[in-house]
Amino acid sequence: MTSTNEPPGGTPTAPSGPPEIVPTHPGAVLMVASSAALGGFLFGYDTAVINGTVDAVRAEFGMTEGALGAVVSAALLGCAVGAWFAGPLADRWGRIRVMLLAAIVFAVTSIASAFAWDPISLLAFRLFGGLAIGAASVIAPAYIAEISPAYLRGRLGSLQQLAIVTGIFASLLIDYLLAASAGGAAEQVPWGGTAWRWMFASAALPAVVYGVLALQIPESPRYLVKKQKLVQAKDVLRRFVGGNVDLKISEIARSLSGGDQVVNLRDLRGPRFGLLPIVWVGILLSVFQQFVGINVIFYYSSSLWHSVGFTERDSLLISTITSVTNIVTTLVAISLVDRIGRKPLLIIGASGMVVTLGAMAFCFSQAVGSGDDLTLPGAYGTVALIAANLYVFSFGMSWGPVVWVLLGEMFNNRIRATALAVAAAAQWIANWAVSVSFPSLASVGLQFAYGLYTVFAALALVFVWRAVRETKGRELEEM
Ligand code: GLC
Repeated sequence: MTSTNEPPGGTPTAPSGPPEIVPTHPGAVLMVASSAALGGFLFGYDTAVINGTVDAVRAEFGMTEGALGAVVSAALLGCAVGAWFAGPLADRWGRIRVMLLAAIVFAVTSIASAFAWDPISLLAFRLFGGLAIGAASVIAPAYIAEISPAYLRGRLGSLQQLAIVTGIFASLLIDYLLAASAGGAAEQVPWGGTAWRWMFASAALPAVVYGVLALQIPESPRYLVKKQKLVQAKDVLRRFVGGNVDLKISEIARSLSGGDQVVNLRDLRGPRFGLLPIVWVGILLSVFQQFVGINVIFYYSSSLWHSVGFTERDSLLISTITSVTNIVTTLVAISLVDRIGRKPLLIIGASGMVVTLGAMAFCFSQAVGSGDDLTLPGAYGTVALIAANLYVFSFGMSWGPVVWVLLGEMFNNRIRATALAVAAAAQWIANWAVSVSFPSLASVGLQFAYGLYTVFAALALVFVWRAVRETKGRELEEM
């Protein structure tokens, strides 16, 4: 964060006379930030849309659990690669062009997935689509931070998680409506075509909206300064950020002429364990955020509830309701994160997850029957449902948004971009590992899968307690 009292250093546009102070424009920057946050919406939409398709795809292509896990998680590997390359590409081509490219790749691969003819083609289209999701997942927070005035940056940054969870909700709702109108994900919708294929195709719509909006919003002032386009940079700052525009330009220029633009893995090297300790903290936060199994709920929950005796329709409805819980709790987190701090939220959230995941593991251990005839007897089904929603509550008010907030602010200016790319790639790989292993673990016993996530939630608790430092209220320059 920059202080407007700070004297300018090495300014390329040294203002003569009194500085021009432009009023700030929260409404304008909110619109621009929301457009960019649509990248997060696509992230949520595209990764969760698979949820309603799982059982139908398995049936149509006659797939094993392992093959199914590979298809569900193929996009996630693409995401890891996309996240890794998004930073350098955005520095070379600009943020907007990367958003546009992501939108096009999204739209094309969504339609292509709808026409998949076998598991391999579906896997390939999801993998390519993942490149775009991964890129969008890094571009959105980076762009928002670059276009926001300092005093709004935290709240605008939280739009990322809000967009992700809204995307998850929208995709599950569309899945539900499509399956309901067809009478099942594997059935034909009244206007023709199988419901699960329409589920994939529907992701093209938000992608097109994202692409159109990306054409309307300005390039990041930071990128413009880097490319020496100072007139345009000034114009963008004047229209969206306000304050002392000349001072801002000189501060950006100064940060770029320092070590700030080095985007090299070598700069993350540390004395022990290969990397700087802070980079490990970022990686482990990301990995734990995924190893508590949150996305099993969002990618597989329909199949999960179906497998313990709920009807397909009820299962999809339950998934949709769960994603509403997630949106509401994100709002709770946004209101708390700057008041009670990041670390307390992570500790409270991890404790809640230990209890609720443990409860789910216990309920699933009580299942009777085998294979497709599994049911949870007595009140166990209801208890499992309540526990699952309390689990999503615990995650949504803590680890979901707070990890993204921390990743944006915990690294110092010099290593931020590279360290963030590494942590985001680690997060996607961890997400992939959980998703790919879930069907096999679940076929051994759902209680084992949930038992494992309980253990990781407990480890996450200890990790935060010992290794994470509070960042609430601190300037980015202090990190
Ligand atoms: C976080 C995670 C993402 C997950 C979401 C669910 O954004 O990074 O993987 O889907 O939370 O709320």
